[in-house]
Formats: sequence, structure tokens, C-alpha cells
Amino acid sequence: MDLKSLIRDIPDFPKPGIVFRDITTLLNHPQGLRYTIDTLTAKCRDYGLSPDYIVGMESRGFLFGVPLAYQLEAGFIPVRKPGKLPAAVHSIEYDLEYGSDSLEIHQDAVASHHKVLIVDDLIATGGTAKATAGLLEKIGCEVLGFAFIIELIDLGGREKLPDLPIITLIDY
Ligand code: PRP
Ligand code: ADE
Ligand code: MG
Repeated sequence: MDLKSLIRDIPDFPKPGIVFRDITTLLNHPQGLRYTIDTLTAKCRDYGLSPDYIVGMESRGFLFGVPLAYQLEAGFIPVRKPGKLPAAVHSIEYDLEYGSDSLEIHQDAVASHHKVLIVDDLIATGGTAKATAGLLEKIGCEVLGFAFIIELIDLGGREKLPDLPIITLIDY
């Protein structure tokens, strides 16, 4: 299936000069959505990745992280924007392609002996994924790798990440 044809390009959103890669049109396509999750699952298996938990970043990481966790028979851990998680959190600051923010994880979401896979819809500068790996480093659990639907290659995000498997489905 041509997944790229299901991604809509929106020029100059949210700022002039950014081409926004809109995954709502992929989510809206029943066969495309199923193919995306099935392919992500198969690639994780090909890499021999058997995480105890998928860690997904608010908000678009939730959309793909939860179904992938279900398929891999793993749990799901949300990494959220500040002030959303109710119990004690670890926090970390990060840079975006278009701004900066911070991310949080529950301190008791995962124990240090567990293995996790970090999942998001897209890697651009890599700031979000790097920050998430930083949160997991605070907890001390093992990060097995990363999975993204979309990689914006020219932004070089993967260079910011540790030397671990990085699964992607679509490149720009
Ligand atoms: C987008 C996207 C990734 C991140 C990638 O999220 O969903 O999480 O940016 O950019 P980076 O590699 O430069 O960090 P955004 O923060 O826009 O929020 P959203 O998922 O809630 O839409
Ligand atoms: N997140 C960061 N950069 C993005 C882009 N160009 N399109 C969609 N989401 C993004
Ligand atoms: Mg996001």
C-alpha cells in the first residue's frame, strides 16, 4: 500500500516555511490505518523487539503507540505535556521544529528492569524522542529502540538519538 499517498501536506502550518505532514488522512483510511499498525508490528518483530511497554508521546504518539502495544502484547506508558499527569512525575525540557516545551512521565510508570520501545508519529529534529529517552534514563529502564511512521530526513533527528534500532515507514 502507498502510505505516503495517505499523508496530506499542508504548506505553512503552523508557521510559514513548515510543510506539515498531516496524519489525520491516514487515520481516516480504514485499510491504511490497519496496514500501518500491521507493518509497524511486523517490523518490530523482524528486529526481534519484545518490549514490556510502548512509550508514546502526547498526542500523536498515543494514536499509534496504543494499537502497537496491543499487537505486541505490551503495556502502554503515556509521556505527556506539562501538568497533565496526576501523580509524581519526572520532567524534561526539549526543543521542537517550531518552539520548545517540556514532557513528563509518571515516576512509577515503569521499573528499571523493564524494556521499552519509544513510539511517535513523526521524527523531525528528534527533540521529542531524545527528551523521551532522557525521561526513561531518569527511571533507568532499558530502551530497545524507536519507531515512527514518518521521518523528516533532512532535519537529521536520528543523529540525536542513541545508537539503537530506529523503525520508520515513510521518509521525506
Ligand atoms: C510533533 C510530532 C512529534 C514531534 C516531532 O508533535 O507529533 O511528536 O512534533 O518533532 P521533533 O522531532 O522536532 O521533536 P507536537 O509537539 O507538534 O505535538 P502533538 O503530537 O501533540 O501534535
Ligand atoms: N512535527 C514536527 N514537524 C512536523 C511536520 N513538518 N509535520 C507534522 N508534524 C511535525
Ligand atoms: Mg507529537
